[in-house]
Amino acid sequence: MIHSRIVGTGSFLPGEPVTNSDLVARGIDTSDQWIVERTGIHSRHLAADGVSCSELAEAASRRAIEAADVDPASIDLIIVATSTPDYIFPSSAALLQARLEIRNGGAAFDVQAVCSGFVYALTVADKFIRSGSHKRALVVGAEVFSRILDWKDRATCVLFGDGAGAVIVEAAERPGLLASAIHADGAYNPILCVPGSVSGGTVIGDPFLRMDGQAVFKFAVRVLGDVAQEVLTDAGLGTDDVDWLIPHQANIRILQATAKRLGVSMSRVVTTVDQHGNTSAASIPLALDLALRDGRIRAGSKVLLEGVGGGFTWGAVLLDM
Ligand code: ACO
Repeated sequence: MIHSRIVGTGSFLPGEPVTNSDLVARGIDTSDQWIVERTGIHSRHLAADGVSCSELAEAASRRAIEAADVDPASIDLIIVATSTPDYIFPSSAALLQARLEIRNGGAAFDVQAVCSGFVYALTVADKFIRSGSHKRALVVGAEVFSRILDWKDRATCVLFGDGAGAVIVEAAERPGLLASAIHADGAYNPILCVPGSVSGGTVIGDPFLRMDGQAVFKFAVRVLGDVAQEVLTDAGLGTDDVDWLIPHQANIRILQATAKRLGVSMSRVVTTVDQHGNTSAASIPLALDLALRDGRIRAGSKVLLEGVGGGFTWGAVLLDM
């Protein structure tokens, strides 16, 4: 039986941290105290003008390829989870394949599930690998969310940041990905959306992120709790078996409420939202890479990844590292 395992991770954050006070200095009508109390965010990274999603993805991918010690030419599947692609088309995954100079005819495509994107992409890669159709995947979450923020809307622009995280997943005899689940309910699309498009050379609708913060908060805590239980039950494990919980890094209060609902201590939750803000599809692989590199996550650790985002979409992946 073929299984899939993560064999290397990498991540990349553009530029220097931008603190809450830096945002105030840039003229946003907010305060460090408001942002920290409501969200736990102290700083985030913002890509310079002209820096694209595929550029961030390339930097994170090169680190993951190095960590996995694999030949890029052996990567036969590239999936990029993003809501802020370089172009309408081609996909950021195809652009990343070109940046990495991979010309082996492997598959490359994007997954659009907003902040659940990485969990969706990892689930898809696992299914491709276990089917036997592909052997080694590069799965990336990469975002330049700063491009879709309305910097006049203080209730949203302070929450997000830019970055990328990547993993190499390959066929293995021992299971590394123990269980996964992905879900969506499109009826919730209005509570978090960028309700615009491009037509005839013009933006139709609104090109900025719009959010009903309180509705998102309640929805996120409910589904993150439910989907965690779903994958644990599927794997025949309980919350006590989980060494590290990595929820999507939207807001420290969502992380705390989710951990409480699952009965998991915050000391077992990897938290990056304080330093990264919400990097959407990049947040989970960024946190995974950080906790692997600083030694918290080790070989044999059980790690539960959980995403929730616009759509609404949600999902979880249980890993045996
Ligand atoms: N600085 C100062 N004041 C602010 C700011 C700000 N940045 N933003 C809003 N306010 C003010 C509002 O104007 C309002 O003022 P008023 O009472 O005078 O009218 C007051 O703060 C309260 O506003 P609310 O929107 O009710 O604030 P709330 O307590 O709901 O907190 C927040 C807002 C932090 C967005 C909260 O709803 C939340 O955490 N929601 C979760 C949403 C989230 O994390 N989304 C991330 C994307 S979704 C995802 O990743 C799944």
